[in-house]
Amino acid sequence: MKKIKASITAVGSFLPEKILNNADLEKIVDTNDDWITTRTGIKERRILDKGIGTSYMAIRAANTIIKNKKLDPTQIDLVIVATITPDMHATATAAYVASEIGASNAFGFDISAACSGFLYGLSTASAFIESGRYKKIILIGADKMSSIVDYTDRNTCIIFGDGAGAVLLEPNIEGYGVQDEYLRSNGSNRDLLRIEAGGSQTPTTKDTVEEKKHFIYQDGKNVFKHAVSNMSEASDQIMKRNNLTHLDVNYLIAHQANKRIIDATSKRMGIKDEKVLMNIHRYGNTTAATIPLLLFDFESKLKKGDNIIFASFGAGFTWGAMYLKWAYNH
Ligand code: UT7
Repeated sequence: MKKIKASITAVGSFLPEKILNNADLEKIVDTNDDWITTRTGIKERRILDKGIGTSYMAIRAANTIIKNKKLDPTQIDLVIVATITPDMHATATAAYVASEIGASNAFGFDISAACSGFLYGLSTASAFIESGRYKKIILIGADKMSSIVDYTDRNTCIIFGDGAGAVLLEPNIEGYGVQDEYLRSNGSNRDLLRIEAGGSQTPTTKDTVEEKKHFIYQDGKNVFKHAVSNMSEASDQIMKRNNLTHLDVNYLIAHQANKRIIDATSKRMGIKDEKVLMNIHRYGNTTAATIPLLLFDFESKLKKGDNIIFASFGAGFTWGAMYLKWAYNH
């Protein structure tokens, strides 16, 4: 019997209409377009309206797939939402998304792995498909980062944006789909990129709010160093393990946190710029959404059989790389 692989068979996305560009940020914090562009590669980001949560974007990203693929939502077995900005604590955003898209025969849960959430989700979903247990899984990476960003902190507010991307995973017996993964985490550095209050260790109080501990904080310089070394190392490992040279790799699809981190990773892999997909200039860092948003934006470029390397690094720390053979022509 041929081995079942988990292939991506459709992609979807949703981005809020409201744009926050570098000129807008110049009016809010002490920064400028030139600094942001040269240090990060970001020109603008999307911002979701107040009063609506991450599910608003996740539902719309999933519905793009349902509409374009003419998918009967009752056939979906599982909905996974990778996010660090769930609508609410205690309830999985994925459960709500599944109900709202009409996936009445599915179950849903969230994955919290920050910027690596989509890759961890891809690993989880692939295992379910490869085992033969489920046949249709919707995996969504979605984050409303504007809900946890302090717009007086120039270290973070220039980087993050809101958005959602989704993929459909189905079994494939022709060899297309997820081939290998190299995923890691190291919690001993969790204080370098975190939200201090609002969890079980430090529940929200009037004081924690006044001290702005409900916002995301990062030691940018330190995170940057770890991101470069770990993302490059993971990408290097996945290529070696699969006997891939830079010539075999068609595309590097890396988490969009900072263009300089992506450039360093592609340099170590020996991958030429034209093979490195980027949209960071348009959306900034949308955390769990960056990788599926790239898949959606560049879907027309991808050809059946293309070798794609995914790479990510994020809070936790969580990081890794995955190797996938693309399964269809657009
Ligand atoms: O996705 C999850 C993982 N997150 C990341 O991967 C983010 C990783 N970190 C980064 O992308 C970068 O560290 C930042 C973009 C956050 C900062 O860039 P940097 O090149 O590491 O800057 P820095 O923190 O070393 O600061 C350099 C200088 C400092 O000034 P002095 O001390 O040299 O006078 C900062 O105060 O730039 C200053 N600075 C700014 N200037 C204008 C810091 N932020 C800004 C700003 N605008 N927004």
